[in-house]
Parts: sequence; structure tokens; C-alpha cells
Amino acid sequence: MYKAPRGTSDILPQEQGYWKYVKEKAASLCQLYGYQLLTTPILEDYQLFSRTVAGGTDIVDKEMYTFEDRSGQKLALRAEGTAPVCRAYLEHGLFNLPQPVKLYYIGPVFRYERPQAGRYRQHHQFGYEALGEDDPALDVEVIEMAQQFLLSLGLSEFSIHLNSIGCKLCQPKYREALKQHYSSYTPHLCPDCKIRLVRNPLRLLDCKKASCQKIAETAPKITNYLCPECQAHFHNVQRYLGALGIPFQLNYRLVRGLDYYTRTVFEIEPQEEGAQSALGGGGRYDNLIEQLGGKHTPAVGFATGVERLILNLKRQKIKAPYLPRPVVFIAYLAEEAKIEAIKLAFELRQAGIAAIKATGDKSLKGQLRQANSLGTNYAIIIGEKEIKNQTAVLRDMITNKQKTIPLAKIVSTLKQSQVSK
Ligand code: HAM
Repeated sequence: MYKAPRGTSDILPQEQGYWKYVKEKAASLCQLYGYQLLTTPILEDYQLFSRTVAGGTDIVDKEMYTFEDRSGQKLALRAEGTAPVCRAYLEHGLFNLPQPVKLYYIGPVFRYERPQAGRYRQHHQFGYEALGEDDPALDVEVIEMAQQFLLSLGLSEFSIHLNSIGCKLCQPKYREALKQHYSSYTPHLCPDCKIRLVRNPLRLLDCKKASCQKIAETAPKITNYLCPECQAHFHNVQRYLGALGIPFQLNYRLVRGLDYYTRTVFEIEPQEEGAQSALGGGGRYDNLIEQLGGKHTPAVGFATGVERLILNLKRQKIKAPYLPRPVVFIAYLAEEAKIEAIKLAFELRQAGIAAIKATGDKSLKGQLRQANSLGTNYAIIIGEKEIKNQTAVLRDMITNKQKTIPLAKIVSTLKQSQVSK
């Protein structure tokens, strides 16, 4: 028996209501804020991720799905959504448009992680990016959208964590200070942090191991190292958030798991005790487009995992609206009635009424059981007597009341009942 690969899953019909709910809320949020949909391929050049996300992050070192295609080109399954958006921005000359260009996406992302609740090898991200502007008001728009999105879904138990990690000018000095601090504790660091100390000192700060967290407590704070421009930017982000009344917590140890960030970084954490997985995260990445060969183009964005959103919706007992069900089930007895049923199903669908017709030669009881499990409002039953009289039995599946009506009137009767619903 084959199974879906570890860390991936099928999204069954009964789950689709949640997916539709989340996708529709995402689309209407983006419509409201003027972000346009961009769909990028699931495959990208491996280097798009290795160069941008790089710097000793787990995603590049251990988690990317990479392969060579038949021509020998090294490709990767999409490991995150931001670099592909920047690639498309450059490839299609979107820098020629008035800036900022605002784009959003929803699609699968692949990371070879250790699967657990809320962490999968294939997950889906809804994300949005504003490219070509360094105004802190844009950072705040992106954070505001994240907050409004979660609220629009009905989620309320979350908090926004905020930090600034500086720029090309001020970050190197901070990295050095961190290195110095951690170097005196080298024997006490976990094996991963020993590597981070050499390759990516910022990531030392968000190691989850208790022994490393203790060392982080006394580590120098980035805010004492920000250059005046980064300080002003961070100050304004907080000022504008304050003006909107958006609550946030400053978290000087927040550094994010990808390497392209500059200045503002933020994460949204569920409040549930013990829940370690962020609902979403984002920030500024002012050097990424330049790294990909474009001009200096500041940008900021956010992404959230759809599976995690749905987990939290369920935890907070929020039900997704039901998907529309077929309106009517057509049951038949005997071959002649079957032909009438085939014709009637066609006519109903032509009239825009969702109809399911029985198939095979089940008993009437079996056919009605199927109608029940499909949750249709009506069943139409056509037997020999009905054929002779050119009628059908129309049963209301909720009240169980039924009446006999002429075959020629079924479509108009059901149309009428749809209108009055
Ligand atoms: P990220 O924090 O790596 O950021 O992922 C964004 C969100 O995707 C996470 O907060 C989480 O909700 C979800 N997620 C990540 N990995 C998994 C997983 N293995 N299973 C389930 N859900 C997961 C980014 O990818 C950036 N591109 C976000 C961004 C956009 N920054 C600027 N613009």
C-alpha cells in the first residue's frame, strides 16, 4: 500500500471548507490593501534559494529538496515564497512600475523537516510582499495586514513580536559583539550553536536549548548597536503601530530563520501554552533584490502557514462555513426510469441546480442512504408508476415530506424552492 510521503498529506473533501475559508479571507484582505496575486512555479533554480536564504540557515543546509533535471540543471522545490517573488519582479521588469509593487501568493512550500504537529515537509504559505520602498509605514502596513487577517478569520489568541536586526552597516558590529560574548561559553554550546558561532552568529539567539538560552539572556542587545538610520526606522515602526493601537512585544532575541532580513523582523505567536510554532513571520529584506542582480530595492513582507492557521482555527473552536452541497439526488427503479433520471439530471444541471444521479442498480433504500450521506436537500424518485404517469416523487430530505409532481415541472419547482431559500 502506498502512502503519501512522510510529512505530506492529502486534503480531504471534509477539510476543504477550511481551505476555502482561509483562501477567500486572504484574497479579500489583499484586495482591500491593493496587493495583486502572483503565482510562481513550484520549481526554481537551486541557487535562487542557496544564495539568498543562505548563510548557514537550516533551510539551505538540511531542508531543501533539490535535484538535477535531465539536462543536468540543479533545481529546488520552492523552499519559501519571498525569493521567487523577487526573481519574478526582476525577470518581468516590475521595477519599471510605480513603486512599491505589492504582490501576494498562496502555494505549497517544501522543507525536509522532522514532521510533528504544525510542522510538515509540504506546507502551504499565504504571503505578501511590498517591493521598492523603505518607508517604515510600509512595515507597519504589512504587520497591520497580518493582524487584520488573523482577526478576520476569527483568531484572537495571538501576539506580535517585533525586533530590528539592523542593516549592512550596523549588523556586522553586532555580530562581532555576539561572537565575543558566545566565544567565552563555547564548551557549553550545543553542537548546532557551535556551528552558528562561526557561520551565523545571529541565529545563536533563538536556539531553543535551555543551556544556550541561558547564554542568550546576557548577550548584547542589537538595539544598542543600531546605526542612527536603523534606529529612526525602528522608532517610526513602533510609533506608527502605536498610532494604530496595534499591540506588540519587543523581543530583542527575535532574528528569524532566513538570512535575507534587514531592519524590521516580526513574528506572530499563538498564545496557547507550549505552542512553539509561529503562526507567521516576516520583515524587511532591503538587500535581497540587489543580491539577485537588481538595483538596490528595499522591500518588506510576511508569510503564514495555512495548515497552522487551520490547526489554530480548530483549537479555538472556529468552524469554517459549509461548502455548498448538491441540491438534489435522483433515485430510480428500473431501466426506463434510469433513462428519465439521466435526462432529468442533465436538465437540472443546465438550469444551474446541482444534481447527483444514482448509478448502478442499488435498492431504493441504498440510493436514499447515499442521498442522506451527501446531505442533499431533496431526493427525486422515479419508478415504473411515475414513468407511466410522467411524474416523479419529490421528497424533502429534511422534513421527509413528499409529493408527486409532473416530470415537466420538476426543474421549475426546484428553481422556485432555491429562490425562496
Ligand atoms: P518562515 O517563517 O520560514 O518565513 O515561514 C512562514 C510561515 O510558514 C511560518 O510562520 C509558519 O506559519 C509556516 N511554516 C514554515 N515552515 C513550516 C512547516 N514546516 N510546516 C508548516 N508550516 C510552516 C518565510 O518563509 C518568509 N518567506 C516569510 C516572509 C515573507 N518574509 C518576508 N516576506
